[in-house]
Amino acid sequence: MKTLVAFYSLQGHTEKTARMISKFMKADLEIIKDTKPRGHLKIWQGGAFDEELRTPTKILPTTYNPSDYDIVIIGTPIWDGIAPAVKTYLKQNKFKKTAFFITFAAAAEDAAYQMEKLSKKPKAILELQDRQIQLGEHRKIIKNFCRKLR
Ligand SMILES: Cc1cc2nc3c(=O)[nH]c(=O)nc-3n(C[C@H](O)[C@H](O)[C@H](O)COP(=O)(O)O)c2cc1C
Repeated sequence: MKTLVAFYSLQGHTEKTARMISKFMKADLEIIKDTKPRGHLKIWQGGAFDEELRTPTKILPTTYNPSDYDIVIIGTPIWDGIAPAVKTYLKQNKFKKTAFFITFAAAAEDAAYQMEKLSKKPKAILELQDRQIQLGEHRKIIKNFCRKLR
């Protein structure tokens, strides 16, 4: 099964998850890159940047064509919903099959449903709290998620 993992990450949690999934699934890895600088958001404490998070963004050209893959596993951090760069990636591409992984601090809310509306019904969904990744609890959870995808 030809598999692509595509993700956006600002602070590393979604990236760590993506790299582990791509290793377990022997998948190609696409880093979605926002054209807008987002470094200042690392000190986000809720509220202050809400308008910016809702504004659509452009992404840099991607390396892989998702429609060449049997399944694309797409990852986003929660930024009051799906990260803008991931929203753009979902809108710009067509997918045969999808799966989603979402990292968050408090709650993933309805992000998976929003991702599905922009792409395809996912084969599986992984929701991971950033704290679980920091504590090293993610490996087993990611393995189980990958098992569902095979
Ligand atoms: C700009 C910004 C907005 C965020 N908004 C939320 C939110 O609405 N709900 C939530 O649970 N976590 C929120 N978080 C926390 C991130 O979703 C969480 O730490 C995630 O794992 C970060 O992924 P990353 O390290 O791959 O960037 C926010 C973080 C940032 C930087």
